[in-house]
Amino acid sequence: MDMTKVFHVNGGDEETTYAKNSDMQKRALSLEKSFVEEALLDYLGGKDFPEKMVIADLGCSMGPNALTPTKEIIDVVRDQCRKLGRRSPEFMVYLNDLPGNDFNNIFTSLQPDFYSKMREEEQCCVAGVPGSFHGRLFLSKSLHFVHSSASLHWLSQVPSGLDAKSGSMLNKGKIYISKTSSKAVVDAYKQQFHNDFSMFLESRAKEVIPGGHMVLSFMGRESIDPIVEECCYPWELIAQSLMSMVSEGIIQEEKVDRFNMPCYIASIQEVKTIVEDEGSFIINRLEAMDLYWDVDSSCEGENALLSRGERVSRMLRSILQSTLSFHFGMELMDELFGRLSDIISSHLSNIEGKFVVLILSVTRQ
Ligand SMILES: C[S@@+](CC[C@H](N)C(=O)[O-])C[C@H]1O[C@@H](n2cnc3c(N)ncnc32)[C@H](O)[C@@H]1O
Repeated sequence: MDMTKVFHVNGGDEETTYAKNSDMQKRALSLEKSFVEEALLDYLGGKDFPEKMVIADLGCSMGPNALTPTKEIIDVVRDQCRKLGRRSPEFMVYLNDLPGNDFNNIFTSLQPDFYSKMREEEQCCVAGVPGSFHGRLFLSKSLHFVHSSASLHWLSQVPSGLDAKSGSMLNKGKIYISKTSSKAVVDAYKQQFHNDFSMFLESRAKEVIPGGHMVLSFMGRESIDPIVEECCYPWELIAQSLMSMVSEGIIQEEKVDRFNMPCYIASIQEVKTIVEDEGSFIINRLEAMDLYWDVDSSCEGENALLSRGERVSRMLRSILQSTLSFHFGMELMDELFGRLSDIISSHLSNIEGKFVVLILSVTRQ
């Protein structure tokens, strides 16, 4: 599966769009606020006060979250400039995602509200940059601040040896690392993340100026054990939904056996080691925080009326549909996510569903 061609969150404005199902990622953005603020204040406290700031948000997606980090970054910088009695820099903002992302949704939301507010003071220009953050995206030494949220756990491909084309059935009945997965499956996932995250760091090392910062948050785990519940159970529950369709003859078992999710939930220690081994960035802060799947009171709009299972299932659908429908067929998606919503509802009656988010703040040496 070529992720650059296949993967995108659901665009448009239908009920399964990411724009209407990203409350949880919005809460994740609020977890990293102090990291972003600290990094910006550190950058502005450097010896040369910037006249221009080039900011990149990688894996920006679409909907309300696409512009939230940019607004927050610019607000922090402007506040600090006011406090210091300095003129705010001009801003160039690059919004990156894979080519299938609904960039038009972002561009239409720039006019008039975003631009009129952001251009009240110094100039602020925004451009979309389609492409994979696992490789080069920008000119050498051109970025001052890089942000990415809820994206870096996505791999550039299904780990080698586990993709459908290789014909491998090493991970029967599962779609991610699980209790029944062999060491070969775990190693294949670890190696793919190692390669991808190293490549991400090498690419950014060329693009970020010395003294520039990155704040990156993504799904991860505190434990060194890759089979802890909080990183495996979303995939376990999707595998259960798929297998229930197998047992009714709706999907062939072999089709499930050949499918593996192109994402990896890394441990805090793995991330630390990869950053240190790559060597271009100094770690300022690296922390793990809990992010609950569903917080009833935080839901807005029509989603507030849904059951907890439906809400979490829709959130997962808005992200995973492109990948799952590529392999299993679009016509099965209503059935699959309907079953998933029931399975999640019963799961949430016994257990508090949560993810762990790793938040990493680094400076380019
Ligand atoms: C769950 S969304 C997160 C969006 C947003 N940052 C937020 O916090 O709500 C993950 C995004 O990462 C993007 N993505 C995944 N792999 C990518 C890659 N290799 N290069 C660029 N974007 C990627 C996906 O297309 C998707 O839009």
